[in-house]
Amino acid sequence: MEIIIQSTPQAATEIAARLMAKLIGKKPGAVIGLATGSTPELLYRSLINLHLDWSRVTTFNLDEYIGIPREHPQSYHSFMQQQLFRHVNIRPESVHIPDGMAADIPAACQSYESQISAAGGIDLQLLGIGTDGHIGFNELTSSLASRTRIKTLTPQTRRDNARFFGNEDQVPQHVITMGIGTILEARHCLLLAFGAKKARAIAGAVEGPVTAMNPASALQLHPHVTLCLDEAAAAELRMTEYYRWVYDQKPDWQKA
Ligand code: PGA
Repeated sequence: MEIIIQSTPQAATEIAARLMAKLIGKKPGAVIGLATGSTPELLYRSLINLHLDWSRVTTFNLDEYIGIPREHPQSYHSFMQQQLFRHVNIRPESVHIPDGMAADIPAACQSYESQISAAGGIDLQLLGIGTDGHIGFNELTSSLASRTRIKTLTPQTRRDNARFFGNEDQVPQHVITMGIGTILEARHCLLLAFGAKKARAIAGAVEGPVTAMNPASALQLHPHVTLCLDEAAAAELRMTEYYRWVYDQKPDWQKA
């Protein structure tokens, strides 16, 4: 894992944005996995300001709530439109987000997996992390080999997301999420985490054992993972001096 620690979320985000811009520059038809939540909002703003050409890019979002229509202000369809898609020249048919209103959810999940394969797999998967270590909506004890499927949210995640819905009762109980196995097949995973409330999950993911009790720890099994952290999210890591030194040693052209 490459651990990049910056003083602020903005500085960590700029590195992630440059990394994504480099990919789109090098591979205009890149397949990019996208994430929702508060963490990537700054990143999407930075990407919009970079005026990249999204006309050949294909995207797959990690997850969506079940049972709320895509027009609902808190659906991840709405989030992505507001935060990114309506500001860039991506083709609507190149955007993929799980359908939380599908009549046959297992079939929709299987079809999502097939669409990812048909697109040639994901070049870069953007990830946030839950306060408990979830990635996508792969809650604690998710199989590390899981594929896109229905998940039941934990009370912790519903509490964490209540801020978007007004109160916890309004947060849907079920979601569709790419599985951990699906995420691990992306060619590069880019995880962003900011703030002290993520510090424990980050420490477990990077320096703890690989365990379904911290789903992000499965990223230790992946050959190409980059973490962009602010200092608060990195605060419980034990080897920060090493991570900083390794990044400082890198020639500029290799840095994002
Ligand atoms: P957040 O959510 O970016 O809103 O903190 C991250 C997550 O739950 O994966």
